Amino acid sequence: MSEERICAIVGCGLIGRAWAVDFARGGWTVRLFDPVAGVVDAALSAIDGMLSDLVASRLLEAPAKDEARSRLLPASSLEAALAGAAWVQENAPERLEIKRELWRALDRLAPPEAVLASSTSAILPSRFTDDLPGRARALVVHPLNPPHLVPAVELCPAPWTSLETILRAEEVVRGLGHSVIRLAREIDGFVMNRLQAALVEEAFKLVAAGICTAEEIDIALRDGLALRWCFAGPFEVGDLNAPGGIRDYVVRYRDVFESVLASALPRPDWTGPVLDEIEHSRRLRLLAEEIPHRQRWRDRRLMALLRHKREVSETIGD
Ligand SMILES: NC(=O)c1ccc[n+]([C@@H]2O[C@H](COP(=O)([O-])OP(=O)(O)OC[C@H]3O[C@@H](n4cnc5c(N)ncnc54)[C@H](O)[C@@H]3O)[C@@H](O)[C@H]2O)c1
Repeated sequence: MSEERICAIVGCGLIGRAWAVDFARGGWTVRLFDPVAGVVDAALSAIDGMLSDLVASRLLEAPAKDEARSRLLPASSLEAALAGAAWVQENAPERLEIKRELWRALDRLAPPEAVLASSTSAILPSRFTDDLPGRARALVVHPLNPPHLVPAVELCPAPWTSLETILRAEEVVRGLGHSVIRLAREIDGFVMNRLQAALVEEAFKLVAAGICTAEEIDIALRDGLALRWCFAGPFEVGDLNAPGGIRDYVVRYRDVFESVLASALPRPDWTGPVLDEIEHSRRLRLLAEEIPHRQRWRDRRLMALLRHKREVSETIGD
């Protein structure tokens, strides 16, 4: 029996191409399909740069890079991409009508034992899998961008996703080196975007109320809270911030948080004047045409951070 594991990447924009690197690096044969002419070629050329960056960051050996590259294959049709696939990762645009139509085809064309995974950031899986005969093997496997560099991935089942599918999905993404958040049931924003929404909403409120500038919000995170959060979550931070651990922390500081919550600022319109201010602040620091260059910088910083985290895991421990 063939040992080959085939992954079909359906939709090869930003997220699809990063998943392609992730699966190929993990030893999978990866077929790339995108209905828009030229996108797969553009993805493969971007992937060459991503693989080279991984080597330059000492996150991948040069021979492993060549092997991974040889496992990345363009597919001329959806049928060709899905033939024999054990995993399908859908990365089409975030529009319900596109997902619904595409998922009918995925369910019809993929082998019955294949796991069907969507990268959707915010559409509940029940909204595009409800009428599929094979809906028990469908779920959301939501990464943060870019998935070949960010370990955390959340698995969000629809009410009818089988336990077997969830366990298989967990096994596969852990096998690629990811850490997993397994949601007990579907909920808007899943876990990571709910956390992010709470924080970003407060950032908008503080800027809209004139308490601080957009740049100072970045300082508070980049040079403050996120330094600890990149190796310990908020509960561990609390656990270590009081001599008696998390319960002691809550006893000591609950009133602080209660008064913050009681003095909630009004909800701003994210698209209102506050956005003009935030955009102005950003454009002073980065011209719009420099964004692609800065995205590559972000990925290099992420790779350096990953490298650092791996090294200190070995020396200081997790
Ligand atoms: N960009 C992010 O930060 C991010 C993070 C996590 C998840 N996601 C999710 O990943 C998915 C893809 O987002 P992206 O940022 O890669 O978008 P993108 O616009 O970069 O890529 C989407 C790709 O889908 C292709 N496409 C269009 N119609 C299609 C169809 N019918 N079938 C298959 N492919 C089709 C497009 O040609 C394009 O290449 C979305 O659901 C998004 O919510 C995005």
